[in-house]
Amino acid sequence: MPLQTAIVGATGVLGQELLAALAELARDGEADLAPPVLCATGESAGETFPWLEDEELAVEPFSTAAVRGAAAALVAVPPAAAPGIVQKLRELGVAAVDASRAHRQTAPLFFDTRPPSLAGAPLVATPSAEAHLLARPLAALLEWEPSSVHATVLRPASAAGEAGVSELAQATGLLLNGEEPPAPRLGHRLAFNLVPQAGAFEGPDAEAERDLAWELPRLVGRELAVASTVLFGPWFYGHLATATVGFSREATADRVRERLESAPQVKVLDDPSEAVYPMPSLATGDGAVLVGRVRADPSREHGVQMVLAMDAVRATAVLAVKALLALAR
Ligand SMILES: NC(=O)c1ccc[n+]([C@@H]2O[C@H](COP(=O)([O-])OP(=O)(O)OC[C@H]3O[C@@H](n4cnc5c(N)ncnc54)[C@H](OP(=O)(O)O)[C@@H]3O)[C@@H](O)[C@H]2O)c1
Repeated sequence: MPLQTAIVGATGVLGQELLAALAELARDGEADLAPPVLCATGESAGETFPWLEDEELAVEPFSTAAVRGAAAALVAVPPAAAPGIVQKLRELGVAAVDASRAHRQTAPLFFDTRPPSLAGAPLVATPSAEAHLLARPLAALLEWEPSSVHATVLRPASAAGEAGVSELAQATGLLLNGEEPPAPRLGHRLAFNLVPQAGAFEGPDAEAERDLAWELPRLVGRELAVASTVLFGPWFYGHLATATVGFSREATADRVRERLESAPQVKVLDDPSEAVYPMPSLATGDGAVLVGRVRADPSREHGVQMVLAMDAVRATAVLAVKALLALAR
């Protein structure tokens, strides 16, 4: 019997990519899927999106009636809206994958290099984009015992959802025409700027930096000292990070690069003399983490520097769909 799924937040940046990822699975015959139920707020009710060759799916306001027949749901809504939605899904017995940060510290955190046991689990969370981006290469380098990560992560406007994307597009257009854009939603203008704040501050660290420090050791399965700065940058899709990984055992840049070449969902782009290295533009549309500029960090013993890029929307959608299939199994 085809698996009945639902996407809550189907009109958003991530929701649209989740729909595309489900359609690919169905089209390629990798999963027997019924057309998903699409939910969002009442404001989006009636919007339609294509499914496979010839079907149009209409968006419904989220309600228990809309998702009652689903076996599992992908939840891609803002963190403030997620708990109420997950609670209703739980009451209906619908398993949920929450892509927001709302349940990351209370539900199993799903990552495919160390999948948690999901037997009977009603809910799993997917990690933040920043932890996902750094965990993929680190998971392949455990034999050298990584002990610290120092990272600067540049987030694109899509990390702030549809509102971030449209605000950047509008502000860029207005500024290019010599006009002043309206007051920005992120606190500071993103167009022609860089903003060193991702989420609210609690103490010296902003939300995304605290999340990374909490999630990364759990995804990798090791204690790690994590120091990061996360910034918002003025482009639309694809994270870029520079990172130094400190290892307890000697790891040369050449051995690290070689090991990354065979790591799942990692692509090494490392030929600087030919201008080959990771960039957001190369990551866009790809679910993998691109790694390059792998070189020794002369400022610390056993330190290796690298540059990473990942399309967080695509990579999170691919991961969330894997989690959904694991839950529904
Ligand atoms: N964007 C990324 O790169 C990314 C990566 C990893 C995780 N995430 C997480 O995924 C979630 C969604 O992100 P996004 O970028 O897709 O945001 P978005 O573009 O702002 O989309 C939000 C979606 O949630 C829906 N929604 C909001 N409140 C709702 C409610 N009370 N009931 C039902 N639907 C509601 C919106 O519907 P309307 O269109 O009707 O308003 C829209 O479909 C966030 O928690 C985010 O942190 C995002």
